[in-house]
Amino acid sequence: MSLLRPLQIAGLTLRHNLLLAPLAGITNHVFRLICRQQGASLAFTEMVSVNGMVREGEKTLSLLASSPEDRPLGAQLFGNDPGLLAQAASMVKDNADLIDINMGCPVRKVVGTGAGSALLQDPSRIAEIIRTVRKATKLPLTIKIRSGWQCGDDTWQEVGRIAEAEGCDAITLHPRSRAQMFDGQANWQHIAQLKQLVKIPVIGSGDLFTPQDCQRMLAETGCDGLMVARGALGNPWIFHQTCELLEGRPVTPVSCADRMAMAEQHLALFTDYAGASVAVREMKKHLGWYIHGVPGAAALRRTVNMAQDTDELQAIIRQIRETGV
Ligand SMILES: Cc1cc2nc3c(=O)[nH]c(=O)nc-3n(C[C@H](O)[C@H](O)[C@H](O)COP(=O)(O)O)c2cc1C
Repeated sequence: MSLLRPLQIAGLTLRHNLLLAPLAGITNHVFRLICRQQGASLAFTEMVSVNGMVREGEKTLSLLASSPEDRPLGAQLFGNDPGLLAQAASMVKDNADLIDINMGCPVRKVVGTGAGSALLQDPSRIAEIIRTVRKATKLPLTIKIRSGWQCGDDTWQEVGRIAEAEGCDAITLHPRSRAQMFDGQANWQHIAQLKQLVKIPVIGSGDLFTPQDCQRMLAETGCDGLMVARGALGNPWIFHQTCELLEGRPVTPVSCADRMAMAEQHLALFTDYAGASVAVREMKKHLGWYIHGVPGAAALRRTVNMAQDTDELQAIIRQIRETGV
């Protein structure tokens, strides 16, 4: 069986199994469109607070902004109250193709509310959440977890069984503990073992920075699909390059000119969707990633950070493109 293959999650058929992971502060509407253009088969919103959603907070609801070309779309929700999670799941029924519940976020602001990876300390609450949300939505339902709270915890095994028994349609595992944050290596063996443990599709996450990493995760773990996260920053080509690698075709290299053309397109799209001031603020971050590996990147980043408006950013992009530095 080819490593690159369609991924079926309940009634949703994805054309292949290379997904864009949810990334808070990054996977907004514009970044999702860029990654889709480069081949991502499914993209997720940033994680959205269900407390904010049911209060109809404007900022929270804006995280769900999308468009017809931004499909299929996974809405990622976070919270710890089963009833609120179910209510939020009903609210997104027309705007998303899948609902994912975040059970892995390690940041204090989130775990302090009992959400994200804090849920891994309370598997019975996880069961109640999945059961309640399952009843509230017909959309495919998935959860995204870490291995456990502490290093060495094997909570992923119990949660995997619960997810399957309570009606989840797939499970994503980022095999680091909460305590690990982003340190050390993700333990892909846990992904392989979870795949043996459950029948629902298993999606792997963690340390996917190159097409070769993606190939290796699919081959070594037998997972049904994978999610690229930090590896897509300034590098949306990873999706089509991985398709090329898995199809046995030569991998198309990405030049400095390609990177700057993408940065220019990204800036234009951002300006259209969010206005110039948001675009400038956000694109400083992305441009910093697009110039990764370009000679003199550190000095260029300082220049980028001083840009005041879209014209200045465009001029910097053009200069990098022309000089190739
Ligand atoms: C800046 C940042 C934001 C993230 N935001 C989310 C999020 O909103 N929801 C989520 O489930 N995971 C989030 N993650 C975790 C990623 O989806 C992914 O599981 C993790 O980064 C491991 O993959 P990687 O090592 O390939 O980056 C985030 C990670 C980073 C670095």
